Amino acid sequence: MSSIRMINGGARAPQVLAITSGKGGVGKTLTTVNLAMAARRLGKSVLIFDGDMGLANVDIVLGLKSRYNIRDVLDGHAALKDIVIKGPLGVDLIPSGSGIASLTRLSHVQKQQIIEQISQLDHHYDLILIDTGAGIADSVTHFCKAADQTLVVTTPEPHAMTDAYALIKVLAEDHGVKSLHLLVNQTRSEGEGLKILTRIADVAMRFLDVRVHSAGHVPFDPQVTKSVMLRRAATEESTHTIAGQAWGQTARRLFGGPEAARSHSDVQEFWRSLLWQQPSRAEGVS
Ligand SMILES: Nc1ncnc2c1ncn2[C@@H]1O[C@H](COP(=O)(O)OP(=O)(O)OP(=O)(O)O)[C@@H](O)[C@H]1O
Ligand SMILES: [Mg+2]
Repeated sequence: MSSIRMINGGARAPQVLAITSGKGGVGKTLTTVNLAMAARRLGKSVLIFDGDMGLANVDIVLGLKSRYNIRDVLDGHAALKDIVIKGPLGVDLIPSGSGIASLTRLSHVQKQQIIEQISQLDHHYDLILIDTGAGIADSVTHFCKAADQTLVVTTPEPHAMTDAYALIKVLAEDHGVKSLHLLVNQTRSEGEGLKILTRIADVAMRFLDVRVHSAGHVPFDPQVTKSVMLRRAATEESTHTIAGQAWGQTARRLFGGPEAARSHSDVQEFWRSLLWQQPSRAEGVS
């Protein structure tokens, strides 16, 4: 441990934000990518970790092709520093690999390997964004527990809201997460976004004693769908669309104000707390 600290000695701890949702397909990956681009514009250095072990797709949205992923690191075919790819607007990405059930289920040796490899990431990041999968599996909730902040994404769709609340409940009751941010994506009006944010925040406070902070709302924008199809969702021009501007506001809310409290002294410590978490009783339920 001391050798790891010495290699990275003195580096400031990055702010770590997990982006998650109860239901799939609500806009986590687009939120991650757009927040990353907006944070770059705020002058932050950003690393995205694609923590979606099922359908890893940050690289696709960023228009990148990854040769290696985290699986190759675990199998010893590649070093972690060599799988970091440079994305648009200077955003770096660690691609995920499908088929890793849960990082916490890795063997002790594999966990040690990851921690040691992380010490070789010599570049310093102000911000690490983790695009988790959807749902309440340990592979998702452990990222949220280990991160400094969690951003839950929902849409106004009733199923998405119910699943968002179920996730908030599991995070609170099984993982002790008592404060998080909520973003309502694909809203049809400003009033709709505010209403949903207020309703979920009220219920979470009343029944779970959880503080839900508003991260804002992002309108449904046909331009988003179009740019995803054209693989142009991660471009300078996409930041000027209506949705892009709203994600920009969310980024300023989350990263532009007074420094968020950091729960880890350095990035290795974040990974250590992530990898050595015990599986929860919720595992297997989703
Ligand atoms: N604000 C928006 N306006 C219009 N369409 C949107 C918006 N946000 C997301 N979408 C649409 O929703 C689709 C899914 O978005 P995204 O891939 O980011 O969801 P996800 O939560 O990461 O999904 P998964 O759970 O499968 O990883 C996008 O391809 C896009 O078509
Ligand atoms: Mg996704």
